Amino acid sequence: MNMALSPANEVSETEFFRRDVIAGLRKEQKTLPCKYLYDKEGSRIFEQICELSDYYLTRTEAGIFRDHLPHMAKLIGPDSVIIEPGAGNCEKVEPLLQALEEPRAYIPMDISPEILLAARTRIRRQLPDLKVEAHVGDFTAPEAWQGVSRQSPGGRRVIFFPGSTIGNFDPEAARQLLADFAAHLSTKDGILIGTDLVKDTVVLERAYNDSEHVTANFNKNLLTRINSELGGDFDLDAFAHRSFYHALKQRVEMHLVSLKPQRVHIAGECFDFAEGETIHTENSHKYTLEGFAEMLREAGFTLVHQWTDGGGLYAIHYAEIR
Ligand code: AVJ
Repeated sequence: MNMALSPANEVSETEFFRRDVIAGLRKEQKTLPCKYLYDKEGSRIFEQICELSDYYLTRTEAGIFRDHLPHMAKLIGPDSVIIEPGAGNCEKVEPLLQALEEPRAYIPMDISPEILLAARTRIRRQLPDLKVEAHVGDFTAPEAWQGVSRQSPGGRRVIFFPGSTIGNFDPEAARQLLADFAAHLSTKDGILIGTDLVKDTVVLERAYNDSEHVTANFNKNLLTRINSELGGDFDLDAFAHRSFYHALKQRVEMHLVSLKPQRVHIAGECFDFAEGETIHTENSHKYTLEGFAEMLREAGFTLVHQWTDGGGLYAIHYAEIR
């Protein structure tokens, strides 16, 4: 495994977090990068979100895979290398790896070495013939791709990017990320990617304002994290979770709303909040089938197939470099 994280790096992880938090909270519209929602606790809460009946995304995507894996495997063909940026626990890829005809290798990439090690062990048990080459790193950083973009004679290399993670990126950044992915691939290689679809506002807003308040916990965990890792003094009861669908921007926005005028201290800095002022914590962009096909095209891919569920809630797209 490509183990890039040393204790020295962990010190600077906290330093990056501190800089990003301070820069974000100094902006006119206060904001925090959504990647910080996914610490250990945040990832645990996110898994709870995936089980909620209001949050249709995870189970709908799993259903599409279940129904169409043979078709996907046929399009990808034999002897493939599957690369998964931000693989996490690598659970979503297993049915795909099982369905593929003699896949050659699986390359999960994630910032957490512990999670990758556990996943590698599990996959090796299930598919003993498959080569698993785990890469520790942030997939948006070029270093993380070292050794991944090496030429592979034989089957295709396919980037597997499920979970609507692309929705977290603004369209401009999403297009750039897809173009960066394309740059790591060669002719005939592909991408298998999931996106949530534009739909009725009520359904969307229910998914991000669940009746069990799990999403609220997920959002507020960011403040808990700032308090514990950066010595902040956020009063968690003085902020409320708020999510809404912005139809023009085709995205669900997640915010934390200050319930009163207040001052917060973080790492020796002060931040003032007016009553009703928000911290913008996440965007979740929704696409139409045509809209995402267009984005894939602009990033250098040729669309091969799109699968959706019966309700048209969610889509999985397969595209190639031609
Ligand atoms: C992990 C980015 C797909 O946008 O639906 C869920 C994150 N935020 N509920 C999403 C999330 C609030 C999720 N993604």
